[in-house]
Amino acid sequence: MEIAPYHLGFCATAQENELKALPIQGSIPQWLTGSLIRTGPGTLKVGQQSYHHWFDGLAMLRKFSFKDGQVCFANRFLKSQAYQEAIAKGKISRGEFGTTARHSLLERLSDPLPRLTDNATVNITMQGECFTSVTESPFPIVFDPETLNTIEQFHYQDHVLGQITTAHPHFDYQENAVYSYLVNLVPRCSYSIYRMDAYSHQRQLISSVRVKQPAYMHTFAMTEHYLLLVEFPLFLSRLSLMFSGKPYIENYQWKPEKGTRFLIISKENGKVIHSAQSEPFFAFHHVNAFELDGEVIVDLVAYPDSSVIQSLYLESLLHQREQVIAAGELRRYHVPLNNAIADYEVLTSEPIELPRINYQRCNTHPYQFVYGVGSSESGNFIDQLVKVDVQNGTNQLWHSHDCYPGEPVFVAAPNAIFENEGIILSVVLNVQAENSFLLVLDAQSWNELARVKLPYHLPFDFHGQYFETLASTDRRQLHR
Ligand code: CO
Repeated sequence: MEIAPYHLGFCATAQENELKALPIQGSIPQWLTGSLIRTGPGTLKVGQQSYHHWFDGLAMLRKFSFKDGQVCFANRFLKSQAYQEAIAKGKISRGEFGTTARHSLLERLSDPLPRLTDNATVNITMQGECFTSVTESPFPIVFDPETLNTIEQFHYQDHVLGQITTAHPHFDYQENAVYSYLVNLVPRCSYSIYRMDAYSHQRQLISSVRVKQPAYMHTFAMTEHYLLLVEFPLFLSRLSLMFSGKPYIENYQWKPEKGTRFLIISKENGKVIHSAQSEPFFAFHHVNAFELDGEVIVDLVAYPDSSVIQSLYLESLLHQREQVIAAGELRRYHVPLNNAIADYEVLTSEPIELPRINYQRCNTHPYQFVYGVGSSESGNFIDQLVKVDVQNGTNQLWHSHDCYPGEPVFVAAPNAIFENEGIILSVVLNVQAENSFLLVLDAQSWNELARVKLPYHLPFDFHGQYFETLASTDRRQLHR
């Protein structure tokens, strides 16, 4: 069977490296003086074994640093426990999203309890004063942002319990605090919603919402006064998780008859102030949310069901047995605070994923622009960038032959007046040249400003953040 043209994006990088002054085609704005740090799989194989799902590979950090129009680069594996055990044993040591670890009888006797993975391959966030790489198990891994060396697991100084979390916390710039949640499975299931002051190591539990079965939620939304958990009807069976021997995500069951539930939780007192229902759908990523005229407006990237998860197994991605689903529908849900039914409108016909906004300026407020990756044809893997004007429904695209772009990160220009005044940074795989480059676009004009070329390819990654400075005293906190 023919292999997908973009298969290099799922192959390991040759090496860890530090590169100075990369070749630039075009020019980088002189004002760009920070660092883009990203995480994602560095390899999807250990010894003779392969991980099964795109979300499973061992994490590798990547950093592009900008100064005086020049760009430096470094990539380094995250030395998590999962990574160290895998390298030591030459095989997959911990179960991941779509892969189980197979242990010998001797291993099971000496270490009978399965350990949760700390392979933090999803996003970069700040925890306290630390730079961390994070995933959906609550074990952020602290790294040195200068060298990308792994330091240790982040230690929370509290007793908030939970086994599952989100890799997309929200940052409240008014309160200078992080909001996020944990899913607690013992003794009863609940969503434990917490707040953590910037630079603190202590999570303050603000609410514990009891549920029969927790839903799989990759992100949540925040407005000025509320947090929103949108429960798609993909529910975890605890019994199955304990005894089935199946990979983590396969212990969730799609129950469309339950519909999707919008839980609106007060940031002030943690109470569920409203709950609304809609037709069943699934999403990984929220885009933005805000309060307007007695409604909560929730923008997200929706799929009719959870089959997108199946579509992102490597077998399906690489051999294209069926059409690949890798981007969804940008929808705006209206959740009236006096009505239990949520309704939606579609904001653009362009498929979109890995959505980003001008977060610091627009999160929790009405806004105009969403940036994301997309598919040029239905059934294609991600092969273009999309900018959507959600007020006018218009869009602009970037694509280039044989090129597969990653998440577009928006960086605002200094003293910007307009929402889209700044640049877009996206790591692109060029399968023809067998390397990757960093694409720099003008976010306003959508013109290409530069391509910064790497001498080798990087596997496709997920999320990253731009930091104006890596100094410990002056860290701009961006959390998406
Ligand atoms: Co994500």
